[in-house]
Amino acid sequence: MKGFILLALAVFAALQTVDSACGSCKTMKWVDCQGAAPPCTCQLPLDENTPQPIDCEKLVSKCFLMKAEMFRRRMGNDVRLNIGGKPHEDAIVDNDGIYDPECETNGKFKAKQCNKTEECWCVNSAGVRRSDKGDKNINCSKLVETFMVRLELKHKEVNSKVDEAALKTSAKNLLQTRYQFDSNLVKEVQYDPDGRYIVIDIEKPKGERATDIGTMAYYMEKDLKVSPLFLDQAKVQLSGGSQNLEMDKILVYYVDEERPTITMQHLTGGIIAVIVVVVLVVVFGLVALFLVNRKRQQRYSKTQQREQM
Ligand SMILES: *[C@@H]1O[C@H](CO)[C@@H](O)[C@H](O)[C@H]1NC(C)=O
Ligand SMILES: *[C@@H]1O[C@H](CO)[C@@H](O)[C@H](O)[C@H]1NC(C)=O
Repeated sequence: MKGFILLALAVFAALQTVDSACGSCKTMKWVDCQGAAPPCTCQLPLDENTPQPIDCEKLVSKCFLMKAEMFRRRMGNDVRLNIGGKPHEDAIVDNDGIYDPECETNGKFKAKQCNKTEECWCVNSAGVRRSDKGDKNINCSKLVETFMVRLELKHKEVNSKVDEAALKTSAKNLLQTRYQFDSNLVKEVQYDPDGRYIVIDIEKPKGERATDIGTMAYYMEKDLKVSPLFLDQAKVQLSGGSQNLEMDKILVYYVDEERPTITMQHLTGGIIAVIVVVVLVVVFGLVALFLVNRKRQQRYSKTQQREQM
């Protein structure tokens, strides 16, 4: 009996070693890796028949992640929360929530997405809808690149004062160490102590195609809102100097290299700001026109009066 237990333990230990050699994937918790030692074969199931090989040293593309998540949902696992919208110039917010995307073999989104229905729309490189919904003949001539995301975070209450400079350093570190992004992509970090709001702008040069900002933002959104996509489930926190900050809310704005083509009546929160500005200008314009006209009319009637005399 003792011998049997020892043997069982030995087998168990051996399995453990095999497991630690290849079993899991650093950048994606749903992935299984096969093989006794690196190089391992790591595959993410995108649907019943598509095991997608992935590189566990890198972030997995958002398109693959969404597809895998839809598959898991169909199988009855895991869900994603929807996020709401709030005005900000020219930015779009993902108000639609998750869909089952079509991905290119390299993991990029196809420009046209239909969620397996007859209703289709155009997305940006972050997979967020940037056109009205149409039928399956809708033309999305190319995938428009998202070059900037604004993360709007609200942190939980803390006792000490939050230091803006420390916050910026912490955001840069997070980008570099956790997502393997160039920390210089953090363009600006703003802080509003009253609302406990942190705004982080992450931006790459227009035309740059090496950095996938949408994927990074998706990992970050999951890290802060639901649970990490990484194998390591430790909570991600930003440092406010003397204290770590836990997040209450996160809202992501996407800014594309070309303006979105969503029309007025289907406006999402993100575009209302633009329209409001335009409307104000129009109203001011009309008032100005009205005043000018009145002056002109007055002058006109004066001349008329003079002529009548
Ligand atoms: C896509 O389809 C799934 C189920 O078929 C649904 O739950 C989801 O809300 C749809 N998403 C969009 C953006 O239409
Ligand atoms: C899309 O483009 C094709 C060919 O360029 C055209 O035949 C079709 O009518 C267009 N569809 C829409 C909805 O504009």
